[in-house]
Amino acid sequence: AAKPRVLSGIQPTADSFHLGNYLGAVRNWVAMQETHDAFYCVVDLHAITAGHDPETLRKRTRISAAQLLAVGLDPDRCTLFVQSHVPEHAQLAWVMGCITGFGEASRMTQFKDKSSRQGAERASVGLFTYPVLQAADILLYQADQVPVGEDQRQHLELTRDLAQRFNGQFGATFTVPAAYIVKETAKITDLQDPTAKMSKSSSSPAGIIDLLEDPARSAKKIRSAVTDTGREIRFDPENKPGISNLLGIYSALAGRSVSDLEAEYEGRGYGDLKKDLAEVVVEFVRPIQERTATYLGDLAQLDKLLAVGAEKARSISATTLRTVYQRIGF
Ligand code: ADP
Ligand code: NA
Repeated sequence: AAKPRVLSGIQPTADSFHLGNYLGAVRNWVAMQETHDAFYCVVDLHAITAGHDPETLRKRTRISAAQLLAVGLDPDRCTLFVQSHVPEHAQLAWVMGCITGFGEASRMTQFKDKSSRQGAERASVGLFTYPVLQAADILLYQADQVPVGEDQRQHLELTRDLAQRFNGQFGATFTVPAAYIVKETAKITDLQDPTAKMSKSSSSPAGIIDLLEDPARSAKKIRSAVTDTGREIRFDPENKPGISNLLGIYSALAGRSVSDLEAEYEGRGYGDLKKDLAEVVVEFVRPIQERTATYLGDLAQLDKLLAVGAEKARSISATTLRTVYQRIGF
């Protein structure tokens, strides 16, 4: 049987991915190359919804692609491309926007959160229609599955509703995608505030490990991570969120089970765990940084690789859009 098709995207909105992006999303992309017909996209159209600087965006788009390659995406085993290189995303988004209710779009909680942070008057229409573009991203490729965390659940529901609505009004056109729940996904928390998720918008840089930062800095952040006052090294996210986060990161990066780690550190101190994890992190990021630098050292080659990805993507997206245009009377 054919492998299920999956689509996922990541925004080029930072100079580096952080450990949460890697362990919560990108690591699974690498694994899904084997099990899925995978389409991965650096979503630069989404990255302009909240204001941006052109040169920074151009740089971050390439850094994002280079990092994805560096952590193990293989253009021979997946389709990796940049969203703006494939014009059908914006074209289908317009069509889908015309079958989306204003009230329906207004119920998206992520817009409410983000726009209230920016000030409702300042939030762009692009930010408002972001979930419609996301629906177009997915439906263009007839994706069977979309990996989603809790925060994206409502957007996937909208995508499914829009696909069904279009199919009902204009004839079967889109695959209705299902949520793909990844079992291994670790929720990584902020090293300085272990009750909050690690995020690029976190208040303290000491709480975030960036894959591309100086490894000595990462090591220091691990060693000064906030932990509880107890002594026991035990996985208990409710009562020991800091230690549990460190154990989760350790387990994911070293490929060892949490219970194995608990046994190893029984009777030992937090300092031992932190010192060892700091080394694990440093060893983990070093080759990723070297490979990222290699990709960024040959931009002509990187751009060529992304152009090939965009061509592969267009071979599917153009077909879908042609059908859509026919069905709606263009
Ligand atoms: P940020 O929260 O830093 O702004 P994004 O929202 O751009 O990150 O997230 C990109 C991807 O990384 C998403 O799939 C998201 O679910 C995942 N992700 C982000 N932060 C974490 C985290 N702390 N733990 C697990 N996954 C995360
Ligand atoms: Na975010």
